[in-house]
Amino acid sequence: MPEITPSISKNELICTETPGDPCGMIVFGASGDLTKRKLLSSLFALYTQELLSEKFYFIGCGRKDISDGEYRKTCQDILAEDCKEPSRCEDFLSRIYFINGDYGDPSFYKSIKIKVADLDKKNNVDGNHIFYLSVPPQIYPVIVQNLCSSGLSCKENKDLVQKVRLIVEKPFGRNLNSAKELNNIILRCFDESQVYRIDHYLGKETVQNILMFRFANAIFEPVWNLQYIDHVQITIAESLGIEHRGGYYDQSGAVRDMFQNHMLGMLSLVAMEPPASFEANHIRNEKVKLLECIRPLDLDAWSRNIVTGQYAAGQIDGKDVCGYKDEEGITEDSTTETFIAAKMYIDNWRWKSVPFYLRTGKRMKKKVTEIAVSFKNVPHSMFSCFGIDELPANVLILKIQPNEGIELSFQAKRPGSKMCISTLRMNFNYADLFGTRAPEAYQRLLLDCMTGDQTLFIRQDDVEVCWSLVTPLLEKWKTEKMTPFTYPAGVESFSQADALIQNDGKKWRKL
Ligand code: BG6
Repeated sequence: MPEITPSISKNELICTETPGDPCGMIVFGASGDLTKRKLLSSLFALYTQELLSEKFYFIGCGRKDISDGEYRKTCQDILAEDCKEPSRCEDFLSRIYFINGDYGDPSFYKSIKIKVADLDKKNNVDGNHIFYLSVPPQIYPVIVQNLCSSGLSCKENKDLVQKVRLIVEKPFGRNLNSAKELNNIILRCFDESQVYRIDHYLGKETVQNILMFRFANAIFEPVWNLQYIDHVQITIAESLGIEHRGGYYDQSGAVRDMFQNHMLGMLSLVAMEPPASFEANHIRNEKVKLLECIRPLDLDAWSRNIVTGQYAAGQIDGKDVCGYKDEEGITEDSTTETFIAAKMYIDNWRWKSVPFYLRTGKRMKKKVTEIAVSFKNVPHSMFSCFGIDELPANVLILKIQPNEGIELSFQAKRPGSKMCISTLRMNFNYADLFGTRAPEAYQRLLLDCMTGDQTLFIRQDDVEVCWSLVTPLLEKWKTEKMTPFTYPAGVESFSQADALIQNDGKKWRKL
């Protein structure tokens, strides 16, 4: 199909970026996977872009008995590929420290307090601290309570309350009750304005672009409703399996791991009403309002609107991969879903009766995350005299990853005397236009936290509404001992998932 590529002058871009405030970041679980894979490289990227304050320092906290020097060496190895100028790397590494201790031991927090006071003085940091929970969620309460009792959370301190922040990684609970319980524990020790619940999808450049696209252009919003939109498909397909996270994943499954958070988050951004301004609470209010309009799933007939699957052995990119039950840490009788597809409705004036089809799965054919908005067909084809009765509908695709961009398909005449219609794609690709891939989501989120901007973080009520949507279903499945269908690894889709959308006369988009 022909492609039309737009050109945008870089001079026309309007950019504002605020560098992070001076601060000390204290990461619990600093020898863990997240720090290695995301946090250090994101902080280093901010540093190289001069978005990290000169007064920034980092304290890794963990159980390992290692010195600052040993930890710095580990960080240096992690950053080896990103490090182009040795002197810059050395400077960055010199801001890194390590403290070891037991998360349940109050004396650990005393040592942190002493270290923080010392480094604040040395770096001229005025009480700005970010505590980052990157530990298994069952340890969250003990850390939060200790931060509180050691006086580090500063909820009651008028001068410091806005300077001390807590970043909490997902999962925020396993169901509605545990999410509420966790929120209660956190909010006893921190004010909501201090709490930054991370859903890294919201930090993805193209996810944020949903808001820009919808609300910085006048031409899309008038058609963004049930009059013009036939349906919306949201896909997060992954070719990866569960890697080495069997212990966590088997207790979670696709609903808890992806659907309750990333998928509902994207749904709320694509469907919410225009906020009054790009201000954290204005945006978060609209998100929550939208989530509250999602029609609760019909539990008596859930299988009409929901399909679950679990991958069996298959092939990805020509290579054999094992089935879910053969993954490390998974039992032979596991019924955990690695795929879910659901049809959802939003009961409000804008969306009543427009189906939203959501699907996410592991070990699918390829990694694709996108939101496809399918418009209605033209009301009448004036080209039927040429035998063209069925005109393809326009589809707008917000491509979240891996080829970040936006695509709009529309019909046009092919050159020549005959009446031939062709589908063209207007394609905007981040990498082509900006010569680089979109930045890592954590860069955005860490920087926002340093500047005290909660817009892209999840508020307490948001988490709870999302859980209230899926918890009844999870409970029903537990009582009914739901068993997912099986699909071979590496597939685009499978018959039961296809039926969900085909019953409505529609098709999943190709991955
Ligand atoms: C995480 C899930 O939140 O998101 C993982 O726990 C999943 O299971 C990951 O693989 C996907 O993130 P991304 O950014 O690679 O799409």
